[in-house]
Amino acid sequence: MIKKKLDVFSLIKSEIEVLKKSGSETASLDCRLLLSYVLEKKSTLYTHENVYITDDEIKKFKVLISERSLGKPVSRIINKRNFWKRDFKLNEEVLDPRQDTEVLITAVLKYYSNIFDKLDILDLGSGSGCIGLSLLEELKNSNVSFLDVSKKSLEIVKINATEYNLEHRSAYFQLNWNSKNWDSDLLKFRNKSKFDIIVTNPPYIPTDEIKSLQREVKDFDPFVALDGGLDGLMAYKTIFPKFNRILKNGSKIFVEIGMGQEDMVIKIGYENNLLLLGYEKDLSGIVRVIVFMTK
Ligand SMILES: C[S@@+](CC[C@H](N)C(=O)[O-])C[C@H]1O[C@@H](n2cnc3c(N)ncnc32)[C@H](O)[C@@H]1O
Repeated sequence: MIKKKLDVFSLIKSEIEVLKKSGSETASLDCRLLLSYVLEKKSTLYTHENVYITDDEIKKFKVLISERSLGKPVSRIINKRNFWKRDFKLNEEVLDPRQDTEVLITAVLKYYSNIFDKLDILDLGSGSGCIGLSLLEELKNSNVSFLDVSKKSLEIVKINATEYNLEHRSAYFQLNWNSKNWDSDLLKFRNKSKFDIIVTNPPYIPTDEIKSLQREVKDFDPFVALDGGLDGLMAYKTIFPKFNRILKNGSKIFVEIGMGQEDMVIKIGYENNLLLLGYEKDLSGIVRVIVFMTK
């Protein structure tokens, strides 16, 4: 196959227009990400650099552009999303990690500033593993247990953990928190050893609201990762009653919430004998994380 030397801009110029017309607000970046993917580049191409490309690669790039123009998010096409300090691989059973969720990492590091502490952390509803693995990167002696109902999501956590050499500090548990004894099963697997920290970003969208979300979310994020039941609070009501049992005394819980859910989630915390320590806002000033402590 003959490789032609071309300027990136000459390859993406008309495709930028295609994506703009289809509604993308990040058309140039989308094009560069997709072209970088086709050319197997580790970093994202610049608009005015030269690349060597075959006709087949150009065809493949155009196919990806048409998928994008039909509404498929770039992260779902390239199966990768940047979060905290790393790129995380995705599959169809994991949530596409959100930047807002990075507030959870900042919050944990605010309360645990000694990076050499040896902490046992539970990432409850771990998806791609972006939260727990980012914490492992920061907290050099800690361990994370990743728990999710989806077996395929735990497979991707393992792949991500291996990629960043964090697998020796990771454990994986496929459990359903709607089952009665998931807490006992978890402790049994861990020889009754309790946790120091829980981090969780549970599903919190009220079921009725899911159909009115952007197409990129409702058509591509798994329903189980979004659905918070009738009032959006089903997962909090289910998991909070177990926290005192699986955590040591004085442990902390970092919980992501949806916009405006703070009062209700704090109430669920009080009802379950947890102390409120504080909350953290995201970049838009919305309360995104509540911090609790066990007594
Ligand atoms: C909002 S996603 C968060 C994923 C990831 N932690 C993140 O922040 O990108 C919620 C996660 O909870 C998991 N989940 C939903 N219901 C569950 C259940 N009943 N038991 C265990 N995990 C569940 C989903 O599979 C999904 O991975």
